[in-house]
Amino acid sequence: MSFKLLARSASRLPRLALAISRNSLPLASTYSQHSQYRHHSTKTVRLTAENYPDVKRDPRFAHLTDTDLAFFRSVVGDKQVITDSNDLAAYNEDWMRKYRGQSKVVLKPKSTSEISTLLKYCNEHLLAVVPQGGNTSLVGGSVPVFDEVVISVANLNRVRSFDETSGILKADSGVILENAESFLAEHGAVFPLDLGAKGSCFIGGNIATNAGGLRLLRYGSLHGSVLGLEAVLPDGTIYDSMHSLRKDNTGYDLKQLFIGSEGTLGIITGISILCPARPRSVNVAFLGLESYDKVRETFRRARADLCEILSAFEFMDRKSQVFASRFTGLPHPLAGEDNTDVPDYPFYVLIEVSGSNKEHDDAKLESFLESVMEDETVADGTVSQDETQLKTLWRWRESISEASTMFGGVFKYDVSLPLPKMYSLVDSVAERLKEKGLLSFEDSSKPVADAIGYGHIGDGNLHLNVCVREYAKEVEEALEPFVYEQVQANRGSISAEHGVGFQKKHYIQYSKSPVEIQMIKDLKKHYDPKGIMNPYKYI
Ligand code: FAD
Ligand code: MLT
Ligand code: ZN
Repeated sequence: MSFKLLARSASRLPRLALAISRNSLPLASTYSQHSQYRHHSTKTVRLTAENYPDVKRDPRFAHLTDTDLAFFRSVVGDKQVITDSNDLAAYNEDWMRKYRGQSKVVLKPKSTSEISTLLKYCNEHLLAVVPQGGNTSLVGGSVPVFDEVVISVANLNRVRSFDETSGILKADSGVILENAESFLAEHGAVFPLDLGAKGSCFIGGNIATNAGGLRLLRYGSLHGSVLGLEAVLPDGTIYDSMHSLRKDNTGYDLKQLFIGSEGTLGIITGISILCPARPRSVNVAFLGLESYDKVRETFRRARADLCEILSAFEFMDRKSQVFASRFTGLPHPLAGEDNTDVPDYPFYVLIEVSGSNKEHDDAKLESFLESVMEDETVADGTVSQDETQLKTLWRWRESISEASTMFGGVFKYDVSLPLPKMYSLVDSVAERLKEKGLLSFEDSSKPVADAIGYGHIGDGNLHLNVCVREYAKEVEEALEPFVYEQVQANRGSISAEHGVGFQKKHYIQYSKSPVEIQMIKDLKKHYDPKGIMNPYKYI
């Protein structure tokens, strides 16, 4: 296996690194070999209620009784009512191991009508509810705070139909994203969303969070591709708009209310979504750059030169690559033959192109890369030659999420900012943590290992991860509201794609005006007057 060398005009162009071309590359299994870095997995997650004592259980909500359990069993059957404390743990704890709720029951209905019966009952009996999908939320949205009833849509997992002519997929909300993607691959189509959690997250959870992911640049937001939804309102009413219409201007576009509603308005049970044709050729380039300005310049040129075949443009700082390298144990794509470490470039970019004509797409990518290397906008790079290499290059981007937690945990900030100012937030946060004596990569007595930056530059979306050894209050207080103030000062958004959840519930005013917040509250009050849906979050 060898990586393709880009054509270069002798001495003026820098060497293209081929370090990862040596042998066949280990894939996902490598992660487990490096589990010694995942210190957090052994620690007990603190209860959210203890960690955030200012958040009080709403006394209006009822406590679960045996009568409730008997009713639930009569609706969904004994096996779909989980009460064993060991089994409940996975539903109470979040992916970051930052939040832990105390739910006593998880319900796993198998149909929309069962969900309708359950919600009607909970609403009448004032039992608070947390809808749960794949539980990959990065803002503490998917787990209870106190003893809310968890309703998991995991058993709603059927593809309902797919129309190969229009590309419209109709499916239950509990279909795992990767399964939807595999199904579509067999039919020459692609799901218009891809993200690192695809093996666990559900398409309903994706809609509920309005997930952005790795190809928003190409396929746009779910607000555009979702054509219809089926959802159950808190009083049990089934809202059915499972349309196949691209155009429908009859009144308010109600489905949009649920896209990004984070479980606060009802439970999404079905999805109708427009899926593009599957690209026949895909290629990935992984580049090293000497400054953030050059990252921006490369993006500008990629948009212009690669145009319709550009499908992803992701950036990573060097620190994120050091984490990924330690976590995976793989030699870096741009490392030298003798030194497999992450090279010194401060920034890296992953560009994906995809289209329908491999020769044309490869030629276009090659000519773009020649041009950006010729004038030294890009310092170094490598291009995938086959599917395995393509996946390996993506892994250097996708593994950052998990690698960020390897010291113990991660405070995550997912922000939209104007591109020129985007990266400076990472520097100012690192500076602040250093000034406060909280940050050191080497000194394990410091709570913070590093502040790293990466993200979807094509969408103006920075991920700032503060990788910690423990979820210390002093770190949180140093970061919040500091980060949100910086974002507000630059007219950015405090949540580009992960949502508000529990983490940002006190900070929505940094991105929304009082009028907007009031309109959100009015809608919530109208559709969920008793406030049973995902309380203590978002609103
Ligand atoms: P959950 O985590 O279970 O729930 C998320 C929220 O939606 C909760 O508030 C929950 O109450 C609500 N909810 C879930 N299902 C329903 C339903 N059927 N009806 C109503 N409400 C519901 N996010 C991105 O945007 N882009 C990324 O690139 C990205 N990458 C990620 C990579 C990793 C490794 C991880 C762990 C997470 C990533 N995420 C990303 C965040 C997360 O995966 C997404 O937010 C995802 O869409 C959540 O789906 P889920 O099924 O896991 O939902
Ligand atoms: C990503 O882009 O990798 C995701 O949003 C997840 C993350 O930031 O951890
Ligand atoms: Zn992201």
